[in-house]
Amino acid sequence: MVTQRRGWGSLCRLAVAVFSILFGRAGAEAAPGVYSFVVFGDNQFATDSPTSGVPERMAVPEVILALQPELILHTGDLMDHGRDPEAYDRFVEYYRTMLDAIPFFPTMGNHDAGYEGVRNYGRFLKTQLLERNAAAHGPRYAEEFTLWYDEDTTAYPTRFDDPRVAEFRTVVPSGVCFKTCYAFRFRNAVFVSLEQGTRWWSNTPLPWLEKTLRRAREDASVDHIFVIMHHPMYSSTMLENPPNPAQPAKGECIAPVRVLYEELFQRHDVTIVFSGHAHLYDRFYVPDDGHATHAETPPTTFPHDGKAIHYIVTGGGGGPLNRGGWQTDKSSACFQNRIRAYHVIQVQVDGRKLTLTPYLVSGDAANPAHRAFETFVIGP
Ligand SMILES: [Fe+2]
Repeated sequence: MVTQRRGWGSLCRLAVAVFSILFGRAGAEAAPGVYSFVVFGDNQFATDSPTSGVPERMAVPEVILALQPELILHTGDLMDHGRDPEAYDRFVEYYRTMLDAIPFFPTMGNHDAGYEGVRNYGRFLKTQLLERNAAAHGPRYAEEFTLWYDEDTTAYPTRFDDPRVAEFRTVVPSGVCFKTCYAFRFRNAVFVSLEQGTRWWSNTPLPWLEKTLRRAREDASVDHIFVIMHHPMYSSTMLENPPNPAQPAKGECIAPVRVLYEELFQRHDVTIVFSGHAHLYDRFYVPDDGHATHAETPPTTFPHDGKAIHYIVTGGGGGPLNRGGWQTDKSSACFQNRIRAYHVIQVQVDGRKLTLTPYLVSGDAANPAHRAFETFVIGP
């Protein structure tokens, strides 16, 4: 009898495997509107070390595999030095088990920027989107992930010393673009990845962004729009404005980036904007009408009514944790919660309902551990 049960179990596993090979990972799902994805960022691998002295970043892929998401978003800074020609090969080598199993969608960070860094990132991105993700998901990748990539035929400047930069600043904030921005549709959501390394590398063409958001919003079957962009628009640790008002072009700050995109995001009812760059978990609930939402105890349920956007900073993938202080500005009026810790965020989708849980990650590759920091619900 025991032998027979084992034989039946093996047959079942074989049938599931054959079904998955024929129809892809998602083919076995009973409810197409129920799925999950994971978001993390800023693991910032040094090229010559898988850990750079931070063992938690090698626990991150193990935790993500345990959460079994349908896809992964990365908020940028995969590398310390994207300009190194071996940087992305090393990233793939270190995270191979995860990348072989789950489609992975990144956005460009400032450590990926710089002319050589962007070129290396661009090559990595193309292989990731068109080949590695297809291998991870199975033969239904192209059918289940509708990809809008490299669809802009405009020949943008790719150097700041190009004499056309001033002319192109009317459509691209920085005047240069390497065309690493892209979008994709998966089930009832559209995901949009901007080219936004720093505030100086605001390389996303605004006509492309507007067209992409409008196409998503005009499709009645799209319940959620998620944006990933490395540089935050709200932050409890980054400065609001340039540190020296006499030198507005110098110094890191968030307001100049917010000016570029916030109105577009509001007009197209973006659901959540995920950023990285600041190495912590930091979130904000920002109504379109600008009223303050901060409360001593953050609520655990939010309406999904298109009248507000959640801005979530997730930069706890393994880079040195942020030691910044506390900024009192427009961000603090809409601040909800934060923690300086290594983490990944799980987003569970059930139709129009979203349940978000940041998991704090500890341990290392051999002994990964995770525990929930908080859980909150958006909608329906
Ligand atoms: Fe960064």
